[in-house]
Amino acid sequence: MRTSYQVFAGSCFIAVIFMGSSLRAGPEDVPLPPNYQTSFVNYLDVDRYDRKRVRKMYVNPEAQAIAKAGAPLPNGTVLIMEDHDARTDAAGNLTRDDNGRLIALAPVGNRFVMMKNDTWSTDNGNWDYAWYQKDGTLKADVKYQGCFDCHNNRQERDFTFTYWKFVSDQAK
Ligand code: HEC
Repeated sequence: MRTSYQVFAGSCFIAVIFMGSSLRAGPEDVPLPPNYQTSFVNYLDVDRYDRKRVRKMYVNPEAQAIAKAGAPLPNGTVLIMEDHDARTDAAGNLTRDDNGRLIALAPVGNRFVMMKNDTWSTDNGNWDYAWYQKDGTLKADVKYQGCFDCHNNRQERDFTFTYWKFVSDQAK
């Protein structure tokens, strides 16, 4: 992983010279880390009744170890949102576990990744985005401006919908 960052840092430097300061890294520079399901922290599950889906949120342990409430999230933060279909009964109605939560079926669907790199300058600070399909390949023809625009609504939370709040809640 370190090697790829170094390679990236090199190409980034050249790109800055040619393109000016507003550098968007691009989804290919936002990898889907192998083994994140075991090596990352699953900090939150979000039940999306509207989509009949459970979204599992992960953060890399290096960022989680040093993230501070109210402060910009650490350089190198990687957040992954992993989609699962939720269990339904024969009639197609959502079923719940004993705690009233939706039940995530095992198969993994789309993975949405956002990564912070202080050498990047994008519409959303130092964040860039990638959409991986269930087979682990980057989805083609994604309109990434949509990720920037919607996450821009949470600029005051370092462009995150759930992780900034999680870090703040932990500090209480
Ligand atoms: C229309 C608004 C919208 C768009 C577009 C959008 N997101 Fe999000 N994103 C959300 C919301 C809301 C959440 C919180 C989870 C939930 O409620 O489903 C979220 C959560 C996330 C998370 C988990 C960290 C966090 O911020 O909570 C990641 C990673 C993420 N989105 C990546 C992406 C990527 C990559 C794209 C583009 C391919 C994208 N998002 C497009 C609204 C959006």
